Amino acid sequence: MSNIYSPWQRTAHGANLLDSAGRPGVTIFEEITGLANEHKAINLGQGFPDAEGPEIIRQLAVDAVLSGANQYAPGSGTMELRQAIAAHQQRFYSVDIDPSTEVVVTTGATEAIAASLLAFLEPGDEVVTFEPYYDSYGATIGLANAVHKVVQLKAPNFEPDLDELRRTVTDKTRVILVNNPHNPTGTVFEKAVLEEIIALAHLHDCIIIADEVYEHLTFGQQHIPVASLPGGFERTISISSAGKSFSFTGWKVGWATGPQALITAVRTVKQFLTYSSGPAFQPAVAQALALPDSFFNEFADSLGQAGQQLAHGLETAGIPVMRPKGTYFLVADISGFAQNNAVEVTRRMPQQVGVAAIPMSVFVHPENQKDYQSLIRFAFCKQPAVISEAVHRLQLLPEVLKR
Ligand SMILES: Cc1ncc(COP(=O)(O)O)c(C=O)c1O
Repeated sequence: MSNIYSPWQRTAHGANLLDSAGRPGVTIFEEITGLANEHKAINLGQGFPDAEGPEIIRQLAVDAVLSGANQYAPGSGTMELRQAIAAHQQRFYSVDIDPSTEVVVTTGATEAIAASLLAFLEPGDEVVTFEPYYDSYGATIGLANAVHKVVQLKAPNFEPDLDELRRTVTDKTRVILVNNPHNPTGTVFEKAVLEEIIALAHLHDCIIIADEVYEHLTFGQQHIPVASLPGGFERTISISSAGKSFSFTGWKVGWATGPQALITAVRTVKQFLTYSSGPAFQPAVAQALALPDSFFNEFADSLGQAGQQLAHGLETAGIPVMRPKGTYFLVADISGFAQNNAVEVTRRMPQQVGVAAIPMSVFVHPENQKDYQSLIRFAFCKQPAVISEAVHRLQLLPEVLKR
């Protein structure tokens, strides 16, 4: 019997968009957010900051709306923003890019990732990512009918095993998709890992997609873009976004940079995803990218302090934590407790502790969830008073973990 819905369901299955019963299920993200709201818990689940980005930059967006930046922006983004992205790459990383041909502005990093994958993947091609991975990766690889291969990052330090990486990248690999600094583990990869990725991309003739949205959120060390290393630029699509660096997650202004041949392909796909977006936000983001170094340093410092405060609070409660080197996430390990299933525990936390967090298994292939079942991700992009209160409440967590 014909079923007009089946093609969508097949695609959605491949992309893990359905739950185990084949329904377009509610993600654990949504479920935990719902529970956090219901119980008025502090939501350290979703990674959005609770402070606004710089007022001077927000005012520029307001001015742009009032002065008429309300129609379609150019498909590649405004030249002013593309020039600002190129200047930012030169200023921080000494990477030279041509704003006319080597930059495309996208609807957040998410669209840049999707357009890059859809541009380069044929059905059956392999994509290698580290696991755990940002959830859009698995879904978009599935939508492209490609094959997702993972190299697991294991607690406690979440550094990849380079031998496993060498075994996983083969001539079938079309794309190595690397997120650094890494959500959800808070890892910043060693330079040697990035160099190995570049060497493997050359050996197996594949491209690298480098999701570097947390480029400015590293603690006590400088971010190293893949494209800044020898042999990196020519094979890499580098992706970033205004969401994380400036706390404008809702603006969804992202970008991809790289050699003209790669960026032309991304732009070609991107024009049929959204064509363009955010005309009033683009001039504001251009100015944000030119903010003085002190802005970037102070923001990273304050986040780093929030991370340390939360890590210390969890450790005081007796819960081991992987101290993050970047991003605004940290991972706690409840394997030593009687209740050590993170999905169950995070469902109970909003009501019983008054704090919401996310089980790590959300970021893992369904078959590998057992490998991460005792890990919980906390977001610490919150005001100091909120983190203090969360730390106070989290002292109750060990009780919950015993019962
Ligand atoms: C690793 C990673 N990539 C991409 C994104 C999405 O960025 P954007 O909001 O700019 O689409 C996020 C957001 O959480 C992320 O953590």
